[in-house]
Amino acid sequence: MSRNELESTAQAMVQAGKGLLAADESSGTIKKRFDGVNVECTEENRRAYRELLFTTPGIEQFISGVILYDETLRQKARDGSPFPQLLAKKGILPGIKVDKGAVEMPGFPGEKVTEGLDGLRGRLVEYRELGARFAKWRAVIAIDDGIPTGACIDANAHALARYAALCQETGLVPIVEPEVLMDGDHTIERCEEATSSTLASVFSALREQRVALKGMILKPNMVISGKSCPQQAGVGEVAEATVRTLLRHVPAAVPGIAFLSGGQSPELASAHLSAMNAMGKHPWELSFSYSRALQDPVLKAWRGQASNLAAAQKLFHHRARCNSAARSGKYTREMEAAAA
Ligand code: 13P
Repeated sequence: MSRNELESTAQAMVQAGKGLLAADESSGTIKKRFDGVNVECTEENRRAYRELLFTTPGIEQFISGVILYDETLRQKARDGSPFPQLLAKKGILPGIKVDKGAVEMPGFPGEKVTEGLDGLRGRLVEYRELGARFAKWRAVIAIDDGIPTGACIDANAHALARYAALCQETGLVPIVEPEVLMDGDHTIERCEEATSSTLASVFSALREQRVALKGMILKPNMVISGKSCPQQAGVGEVAEATVRTLLRHVPAAVPGIAFLSGGQSPELASAHLSAMNAMGKHPWELSFSYSRALQDPVLKAWRGQASNLAAAQKLFHHRARCNSAARSGKYTREMEAAAA
């Protein structure tokens, strides 16, 4: 695998005006989302819902790549086209979530470590054959009394770096996702501290494992107040703190940073990204790789009914368009009003 191919895939993932759709919810996670709108979590419903997203007319104008789940990578649209090929035909890069989820870390109550390295090399080869061009691995870091610990951060950073090196060997661009969770009543300052320690450890591990920074994408949390913190930082403060933290820890060789939404409302996730891009030119592209902030309104409109398909697709198109505008700092509240 040439470095050039990895680099050009990474650049295409974070090209101007576009971002990533995370549609890689495991069967357990998508069940939770479906339960919220009273849709039965059958394989056919999961397939139909993903088809709704991927066949939304004109979505390729705003979406450069889609992260799929193992089951979804193997599923087909009703016309018989496998999802990875359907996406590729539209000029959208198919990707695949390859971690096996976060489990309790023994000896570290309240902390988790992500599993999935055993057998990963073989799985990556198969995913590449099925059409994947990039991959994702998510680590979760919680904030609470006395946590995160250095041991948890370092264990997760090591796994992320081992995963990233294996991906690059197979010609898949690794999305490196260390997520500092929004859950809790912590301040934005504590989020900045935890995010700083996490990014420092992740980039040190990436260097040790000889990962080519030009051929990867970072998917971090934004630096933000805990969900139940009484003092919620404003949009400007979140943008400043996030960019400041990234500038301290993310080398300029990384082509792009694609944020997760982490439980922010769709509108706030667009506003924060837009504010960061409006601050001026940064060393890396600042983009999105949202799941909930792109999909929540779509699921609510769909509710498992074929008759709601067009309305649901319209909402997906709208959220993707808003985030595309946020890529150049041009998202406005008026865009929401105009679509309402
Ligand atoms: P959210 O945007 O809902 O945080 O999901 C992004 C993601 O892919 C988490 O791994």
